[in-house]
Amino acid sequence: MGEYKRYTVTSALPYANGPIHIGHLAGNFLPADIYVRYLRLQNEDVIFVCGSDEHGVPIMITAKNEGVTPQDVVDKYHELNKRSLESFGISFDIYSRTSNENHKVNASIFFKKLYDDGKLIEKYTDQYYDEKAQQFLADRYIIGVCPKCGYEDAYGDQCERCGSSLSPDELISPRSALSGSRPILRKTKHWYLPLKDYEQWLKTWILEGHKEWKVNVYGQCKSWLEQGLLDRPVTRDLSWGVPVPLKEVIGKVLYVWFDAPIGYISATQELCKKTNKNWELYWKDKDTKLVNFIGKDNIVFHCIIFPAMLKAHGDFILPSNVPANEFMNLEGKKISKSRDHAVWLKDYLEQYKDKQDVLRYVLCANMPETKDSDFTWQDFKERNNNELVANVGNFVNRVISLCHKYYDGIVPECDILSDYDKITLAEANNIIQKIGSAIEKYHFKDGLLYWMDLSRLGNKYISDEEPWITYKTNPNRVKTVINICIQIMAKVAITGNPFVPFTSKKITNSLKINDIDWGMSCSDVIVNHGTYVDKMDVLFEKMD
Ligand code: MF3
Ligand code: ZN
Repeated sequence: MGEYKRYTVTSALPYANGPIHIGHLAGNFLPADIYVRYLRLQNEDVIFVCGSDEHGVPIMITAKNEGVTPQDVVDKYHELNKRSLESFGISFDIYSRTSNENHKVNASIFFKKLYDDGKLIEKYTDQYYDEKAQQFLADRYIIGVCPKCGYEDAYGDQCERCGSSLSPDELISPRSALSGSRPILRKTKHWYLPLKDYEQWLKTWILEGHKEWKVNVYGQCKSWLEQGLLDRPVTRDLSWGVPVPLKEVIGKVLYVWFDAPIGYISATQELCKKTNKNWELYWKDKDTKLVNFIGKDNIVFHCIIFPAMLKAHGDFILPSNVPANEFMNLEGKKISKSRDHAVWLKDYLEQYKDKQDVLRYVLCANMPETKDSDFTWQDFKERNNNELVANVGNFVNRVISLCHKYYDGIVPECDILSDYDKITLAEANNIIQKIGSAIEKYHFKDGLLYWMDLSRLGNKYISDEEPWITYKTNPNRVKTVINICIQIMAKVAITGNPFVPFTSKKITNSLKINDIDWGMSCSDVIVNHGTYVDKMDVLFEKMD
């Protein structure tokens, strides 16, 4: 901490053509939220921006299948996703959307600057055109026989049977998904970002300058850069998207992967307008740390293409880190929207009302930080019972009931500390130190493990001290023991905020702690004696 004046933290904008599932959560929303909550506790100036990614062909296809407009589709999922992420405690400062007016203007200005500065090249290519439907066909709109496996309904970009990625001209007997007719090739003009021009710069910036990036991220960048970068089209022949802001160009829009990351900037502008701050500080000041949380399928866009766009533009800072996670599977199989193999956040929230923290805990404990991981309901139940109930919940409940049993819920005064008390408190602060530095290094799983050590330490302290025995022989000593337990409980609550914010809040409420910050978790007296500690419902319920 302290190296930067402020932080801009982003979480990949989810497509607004389907609901959020646990893969999105474990991949980027949860790690970003943990990181941001920690920075806020450190009293850093931080903004957390996200929103819906509302353009692109998949959204058009969903609309077509459902017989509604693309705007209808994104309106529906934007609201749904915004609401469920919020109830899951993902603490965005803004959750915007890329179909709004500000974003269209902002993305247009960005494109126009690259165009005016001569950073884009114009090229003519032949592309499939549907004469009946009178439009160019996106790769997804072309269907044909897979050249690899013979599957008859392969898409122009991918065969869903054998998994090969394809280009439309590889398909045998191509046909249009719109009209079924055989498409013809027709000339079309597009604008490209010549990535070659940035290759050397990217190599220096990433391969030499960012050796600290996660191995999976660094490795993918290295392999892309070693293969050599191609010109990247930034426009498309589509009707849905941000119109290409050039005179006399009609029927063309910005490529979704061009406009979407600019959405981070648009969202920042909208946020700062509301809070009366200067948005430019968050995107143009070199003392700002930009961190983009994403899933592994987004690495090339965030580490190569978006930085090249920012560099071409010239006014913006670059990401300091792009901590991408791998994927989370479900019960041993890849999460799939089309096969409905997923745990949808909205369903979870309906079924497990007020158990957001159990899912947050389990997803963080299994976070695919370095390799793909697996979510299973068995593990969910076991972690709830053996870790949350048996460790954290048990500690907190023990402390509160002892405090009520002996002192009617009023925190007793601390007397002289024994060596063991001192060692325990020092160890607690040592653990807190470790939690913080793990989070700073994006090691969220480790951070969570250390956090569990804190209540484990508390449980051990109670068992070693055996206040129920001491109470008969030396009741004065028990006051000190319970006081110390209360302080440890406060430490658990404060440092638990990034991981399990709802639980953290319940405990701080009961201890009458307002306005938490990270520094105070290391103080020896967080809760004054004389404070009345509210009884609480059990924090975590055992599940069968
Ligand atoms: N919508 C994309 C996805 O779900 C992510 C877009 S991230 C952004 O994979 F930077 F482009 F916004
Ligand atoms: Zn195939």
